[in-house]
Amino acid sequence: MKKIIIINGPNLNLLGTREVNIYGKTTLEEIQKLSEKKADELNLSLNFFQSNNESEIIELIHETENNYDGLIINPAAFTHTSVALLDALKAISKPKIEIHLSNIYSREDFRKNSITSNGVDGLICGFGSLTYIIAIDAINGLLTK
Ligand code: DQA
Repeated sequence: MKKIIIINGPNLNLLGTREVNIYGKTTLEEIQKLSEKKADELNLSLNFFQSNNESEIIELIHETENNYDGLIINPAAFTHTSVALLDALKAISKPKIEIHLSNIYSREDFRKNSITSNGVDGLICGFGSLTYIIAIDAINGLLTK
């Protein structure tokens, strides 16, 4: 069984109550359940994490190399600021996908630049919680091709 990791960055623990007009009412726990169901259907083992701490996220990215077959990350605000996350992603040889609930290209100008996406295979954004499901399908495609 292939193993994947989904890493969620800062403030995503507040989904469900945070800026619901942008991010919707689905909580991160609900997204985790939906993701686990999708992973099950595809016969993937899934570990799902959230952290508000940049160094913890870097450590999780590092763990991917030896412990997982693929990585999906919503770096949240670190997307637009963190060269450290970019460098960590670049160090990983496994398939990697960046995701966002919102369409970062239709929002404020500062969100249009994703530093971290320079370190991943592809980026999916704008489909709310469905983004996670599409990304699991996509990583499964990369892992089975
Ligand atoms: C986000 C988009 C980011 O710009 C923002 O900082 C987030 C959430 C998204 O999933 O749409 O926290 O990553």
